[in-house]
Amino acid sequence: MKKYMLVFALGLLIAGLSSCDDGRIYENTSIVPREGRVLKLSGKFSGIGKWSEGYSVVIAGFNAESDYAVVSKVIPTPDTDGDEVQVLLSGISEEVTEIELCVINRLRKRVVSFQTIDDFTATADTTLMEVGAIDVGMYHTIQQRVFDKTCTACHGGSEKPAAGLVLLSGRSYSYLVNKPSVFVSGLSRVTPNNSKESVLHQILNTNISSNWGIDHSQMITSSTMLTLIDSWIDNGAQE
Ligand code: HEC
Repeated sequence: MKKYMLVFALGLLIAGLSSCDDGRIYENTSIVPREGRVLKLSGKFSGIGKWSEGYSVVIAGFNAESDYAVVSKVIPTPDTDGDEVQVLLSGISEEVTEIELCVINRLRKRVVSFQTIDDFTATADTTLMEVGAIDVGMYHTIQQRVFDKTCTACHGGSEKPAAGLVLLSGRSYSYLVNKPSVFVSGLSRVTPNNSKESVLHQILNTNISSNWGIDHSQMITSSTMLTLIDSWIDNGAQE
């Protein structure tokens, strides 16, 4: 993924140039309250509206030691997918060392991160973060973080994808949703609004595949990712 992050330290430069010592002491300078830094994000977002309840696409500040956002602001859903959106995140305290375009859950815990500024220690007043055109949709996220990473080696474009199931980007959806399972008669691979009766859920969360040949139960160990897949199914399994 390309990063288009521009950090403007112009303000700092100007401040530096104009702070020639004239010999006087400005007593007030040190007691001006520090209101925190500001980040201005812009990008062309698609897929924000597809996230189910409990998840928010945000611009957030983190401390490197924690997965919980210190400060965050929801990215509004543009009228038309792909339209330009700008968001200002202000009052970013000293505690924050990373800024991320990410998805957080109800507890403000990071679920997935799309882009990061991981050295957010600059004291520049306003930092610009330009993310370009970006698809942050729920299914797109599962495709990238789960299928592309862990599944396509076997369920790919070869002549014989395992179980006749293709999990490649752009094709996976039609092989999963409302498609009958080859291995569990009577069930679909994904039954919208019913994760428990979806073979995709069962194969990743139980040992049903252990005597089919390839045990899938330890392939995804992150409970955040397993919950994400279930939430996607239980909220209609939209593409
Ligand atoms: C090492 C190869 C391999 C990998 C990696 C793999 N699979 Fe499979 N998958 C198989 C094979 C082989 C089968 C056929 C049943 C069996 O042997 O377990 C299968 C079957 C399935 C089925 C059942 C299909 C049906 O119609 O019943 C699903 C769903 C599935 N895999 C999903 C996944 C997902 C999701 C991932 C990634 C997290 C994944 N697989 C990764 C080899 C793999």
